[in-house]
Amino acid sequence: MKKEFLDLGKQPITNSFLNEGEFDNEFLFNLKAVFDDETKLVSLKEFVSPEMMFNNVYAHRASESYTMRESFKKLAKKLQKEFFPTGANVLEIGSNDGVFIRHFNPDTTVAVEPCSNLAELTNDMGYKTYPEFWDTNLAKKLKENHSYFDLIYSANTISHIEDLDEVFKAVKLSLSDNGIFIMEDPSLYHVMENVSYDIFYDEHVHVFSVTALNNVLRKNGLEIFRVDNLSVHGGSNRIYIKLSDNKYQEVEQSVSENLEKENVFGINDFNTYLSFSNKVEKSKNDLISILKDFKSQGKKIVSYGATYKSATIFNYCGIGTDLLDYVTDTTENKQGKYTPGMHIPIVSPEKGFDETVDVAYLGAWNFKKEICQKESEFLKRGGKFVTHVPNVHIVEIENG
Ligand code: TMP
Repeated sequence: MKKEFLDLGKQPITNSFLNEGEFDNEFLFNLKAVFDDETKLVSLKEFVSPEMMFNNVYAHRASESYTMRESFKKLAKKLQKEFFPTGANVLEIGSNDGVFIRHFNPDTTVAVEPCSNLAELTNDMGYKTYPEFWDTNLAKKLKENHSYFDLIYSANTISHIEDLDEVFKAVKLSLSDNGIFIMEDPSLYHVMENVSYDIFYDEHVHVFSVTALNNVLRKNGLEIFRVDNLSVHGGSNRIYIKLSDNKYQEVEQSVSENLEKENVFGINDFNTYLSFSNKVEKSKNDLISILKDFKSQGKKIVSYGATYKSATIFNYCGIGTDLLDYVTDTTENKQGKYTPGMHIPIVSPEKGFDETVDVAYLGAWNFKKEICQKESEFLKRGGKFVTHVPNVHIVEIENG
């Protein structure tokens, strides 16, 4: 049975950055989260159709962040060294702008990316990219065209797909006998620990615990053999998976350790989710209050990073141009547009992050370290970054 525990109100499509004049009739949906007491899976209650979210004007570019570029490069090198020193047939599901596959040989690497503007980018880089959604039909086509894959990699994509049984069946069809499937998505444990409720938005159809994934994968003939806890995106898990009958890869201790850690935290207990929901409400009240205080002191407040996550915050907390002058973002195709739902203008940091700014809400709080280093002048002249993670506070320079 699915039990509701979180209601973040009416929310827009996070990827729909609007032009002036496009505000009327904006699509909104009810952002609510539910807990399945059988599989322990946390999912959205209402789903937005994939075509509305992933299309030919998809804005997010994983390569925008130095942290992400370096993290994918390091991983590609590590995997090649540990698992595939003599090369491998590689498939990436959700290849975005090629930030990961660019480190692999284009002759033996295939990509799947339903956002056709992004698929075009990686096709131009020489990687055969299928502009389609991942399912068993596509898996059969890939098997015919490219045989089996030794490595299937997918970062921040599987959590976007509603039908997990279909996803994992398709993976099973595509994996070579000793092949490995690695998926990387935000960790529910970290979300609950950090009260980073902004991980809930239209695209994150599920927020995974290791516990829930373990249950759903096992049903589909797959098994987790390693879990890496990562700091990217404010806490993610990199899950290494094999076919259940693959005896070659041993199941490592990190799997039972993570399951145990989650169990002790209360991941299996619905009361933990109810208490999380109370913390979310407190976080909202504290954020509104700190921003209002700054505003009443005549401070100019902006937001740093027009992230998808911040759409959840602004719409749930009702933060608009009454509190924030604008949002700065380095992504060219977000600049000149307006944030979804609350319609706050987006400008480039060059134009907007100047000496007139007193306070900046860290929309891209998951890149806090990178941003504090980059904006050390702002901090030195007394500028303040505000974040809501793990509670609403002003970021101290030494912590940055
Ligand atoms: P993400 O958290 O969804 O990956 O998005 C990060 C967004 O923040 C992306 O639009 C780029 C933007 N950004 C900046 O504007 N400045 C920065 O220094 C960083 C790291 C990101």
